[in-house]
Amino acid sequence: MSGAPDLTGKRILLIIAGGIAAYKALELIRLLRQAGASVRAVLTRGGAEFVTALSVQALCEDRVYTELFSLTEASEMGHIQLSRSADLLVVVPGSADILAKMAAGLADDLASTLLLATDKPVLVAPAMNVRMWQHAATIANMATLRGRGVEMVGPDEGPMACGEFGPGRLAEPTVILSAIAALLRPAGALAGYHAVVTSGPTHEPIDPVRYLANRSSGRQGHAIAASLARLGARVTLISGPVFLADPPGVAVVRVETAREMFAAVQAAMPADIAVFCAAVADWHVVPRDTKLKKAAGMPVFDLHENPDILREISMLGAARPRLVIGFAAETEDVAEQAAQKRVRKGCDWIVANDVREETGIMGGAENEIMLVTEAGSEIWPRAPKEAVADRLAARIASVFAA
Ligand code: C5P
Repeated sequence: MSGAPDLTGKRILLIIAGGIAAYKALELIRLLRQAGASVRAVLTRGGAEFVTALSVQALCEDRVYTELFSLTEASEMGHIQLSRSADLLVVVPGSADILAKMAAGLADDLASTLLLATDKPVLVAPAMNVRMWQHAATIANMATLRGRGVEMVGPDEGPMACGEFGPGRLAEPTVILSAIAALLRPAGALAGYHAVVTSGPTHEPIDPVRYLANRSSGRQGHAIAASLARLGARVTLISGPVFLADPPGVAVVRVETAREMFAAVQAAMPADIAVFCAAVADWHVVPRDTKLKKAAGMPVFDLHENPDILREISMLGAARPRLVIGFAAETEDVAEQAAQKRVRKGCDWIVANDVREETGIMGGAENEIMLVTEAGSEIWPRAPKEAVADRLAARIASVFAA
């Protein structure tokens, strides 16, 4: 990244855990404030052994949340609210202890409770003694956290405060700042790129008044189109019939059937990014010209396969968008099915979710996804579909920034 990042209006919840490197969190606060971000700090009991609440408070120009967080304070600013009123949670230094708590899902102090309660992205800058870093327990905890989508920066290698040498040093505050800026993706990160997004269900007519359809609301696809547009992409949203407003700054093409959707996607090419979120009907029937009558007896339909838009576009060869993302709505073996689907369809990523009725995801306001890439799979915590969209758009932007 060139120059100082602009983080105007971004809200960071900084968790300062215990460790000799805690003092570097003060420098990070200064850099974040300078970049325009607001910083709320949480000082763990261990962190308070290394830096004082007073100095943290002075740099944040806000109160510091400590273990002394009382019930009165909790009623003013609940744990959940505190953990969700930020754009990003940052843990500096990420001690072996806090990594273990996060991996195990412990919630026995304010910091670990916030980390468990949040639906926002989390960035950890690990720092600890080299032997602690290389211990099998820490290695397993790091793998668990990475698998859950926790972002990491560092550690660096070098001489340590304890006199040893090796990996375990906290990344430099300027590097942590760059990692924060990369995650928060300032507007414009996708400027100059064209994204095609499909959304909603398709309707496959049976006769002039009836059709085959599914329960997709289009909320997730529309939210993704909006998030990509906010990052500066030129977005073409190809939508089946939905009851949603057009997202701002997005060109919307309305279609009904899968075949119309495919034709609209082809017409919208070339694109750099394709996100196929629509719940496309797999089959259509040749519709009757006149309304079917009950008296005419039980109708029999021949089902014909619809074009598989995701697969067709993934297989385009030279004209293929650089990043093709498919969705997988599954009711069983989500991880396994999604991984197989990624290969079968030839796409880059699969966003999978469990759409069993009791999850309330299909047609609901929230989503809990598994992102399957070539590198493996990550589970993202349940969050509003808009938040999932923002996070997916940021991840897409990171591919184009690379
Ligand atoms: O095969 P399945 O329908 O489970 O795959 C889901 C993914 O494929 C979604 O991304 C969906 O938008 C896409 N798809 C498509 N065209 C179809 C069927 C599915 O683009 N005809």
